[in-house]
Amino acid sequence: MTKVDVVLGLQWGDEGKGKVVDVLTPGYDVVCRFQGGPNAGHSLHFGQESFVLHTVPSGIFRPGVMNIIGNGVVIDPVILMDEIRQIEAISSDITSSLIISKRAQLILPTHRMLDAASEAAKGKSKIGSTLKGIGPAYMDKTGRNGLRVGDILAPDFEQKYQTLKQKHLGMLSLYPGFSFDVSEYEQKWFAAIAELRRFPFKDTEFVIDSYLRKGARVLAEGAQGTLLDIDFGSYPFVTSSNTLAAGVCSGLGIAPTRVGKVCGIFKAYCTRVGSGPFPTELEDATGEKLRQAGHEFGATTGRPRRCGWLDLVALKYAVMMNGVTELIMMKSDVLDDFPVVKVATAYRRDGVLTTEYPFDGGEGVEPVYTEFKGWMQDITGIRSYDELPQALKDYVSFIEKETSCHVRIVSVGPDRDANIIREK
Ligand code: GDP
Ligand code: IMO
Ligand code: MG
Repeated sequence: MTKVDVVLGLQWGDEGKGKVVDVLTPGYDVVCRFQGGPNAGHSLHFGQESFVLHTVPSGIFRPGVMNIIGNGVVIDPVILMDEIRQIEAISSDITSSLIISKRAQLILPTHRMLDAASEAAKGKSKIGSTLKGIGPAYMDKTGRNGLRVGDILAPDFEQKYQTLKQKHLGMLSLYPGFSFDVSEYEQKWFAAIAELRRFPFKDTEFVIDSYLRKGARVLAEGAQGTLLDIDFGSYPFVTSSNTLAAGVCSGLGIAPTRVGKVCGIFKAYCTRVGSGPFPTELEDATGEKLRQAGHEFGATTGRPRRCGWLDLVALKYAVMMNGVTELIMMKSDVLDDFPVVKVATAYRRDGVLTTEYPFDGGEGVEPVYTEFKGWMQDITGIRSYDELPQALKDYVSFIEKETSCHVRIVSVGPDRDANIIREK
């Protein structure tokens, strides 16, 4: 029996999970999403094509690979069907390479309205949600009111839908200033549900178990990042699912003993989109330079991402919480033109130093930095570790020493082929 390897983000999302999953997929038979929903935007670049996936696993462009949307995912049928149509426009029919869990929860049109109403009511203290209805859909899941993909097949599905919608309308009436109209989206929603029925809805925990028993290689693809985890992220400025490796077990229905490698992805610096503490944020020209060099604009919402230096306090926490077995450093090339590169190794608050990621996500802390000489060289064409500039190798060695974890891949560009893969 094989194990499930995991790829997940160690920061606040957008680390480059889509690219890495696409790069690693040739070594796998099955790729699964285990949490989150269309709040995710995973970009893939190959040749002249570029694509942003929201719900479909990033193995979809590799022939012969099965892709599974697990029970831990929340699905908006409209967004999923749009995505499927776009994928099929540039590849082939994917009916036989995508399976959807019957236990995955549905995002209703009114979940989106509730998300928007709640954010508007929060004013300045808003989460900065992607407004895809993620929070309200997970609330209905844990509140035991949700509709699941398997319910679509029930004769009374529409009645169940109406019951939940009425509950939502009652909740929306608590926001008197918020006006909305769900009718247009609702039409699209039912049309998308009808189209979605061409895909198999399955008890995917059994499907995955049977793959593992046959010795198939299974990869789990995280969405968002560790610091957006509902329990261990910078609460309340988080998403509503467990983004940690622990979420793989509950989000796919596999036992903890079946988790294999945990590949943790991080950018060579940090970004965050939405509100919440970000200790190493640079709200100056250097931050703007990072944003421009890294094209740091959201793949789902287009919002400018907040940028800052690498934060080792947060990264070490993420390595610990996920049991990371190997690291993958993304967007190293973005730092090519920075004469000095900084890394936070501790936080200072009220004169006290700490290296432990705090409960409040480090609101108001002062980061303590170690400075590195920049490499000031274009590395995008380099494919062997030995050829990298010494200053970058020093940077990688420092991260490895601090995290006690090997950096297996150094990514040097958005394309599928722009990687330096190292053996131990
Ligand atoms: P995800 O949500 O973790 O899949 O990441 P996103 O797709 O939201 O954001 C990552 C962005 O960085 C995408 O535009 C990628 O194409 C791009 N990217 C990934 N790896 C690299 C890299 O090594 N260098 C550069 N310059 N861009 C990269
Ligand atoms: P990928 O998978 C970056 C952020 C939002 C907001 C908070 C809550 O592409 O890395 P939500 O819509 O979940 O209610 O938003 O989480 N967020 C992400 N940030 N990448 C993502 O996904 C994100 N998904 C949600 O910006 O701050
Ligand atoms: Mg993204």
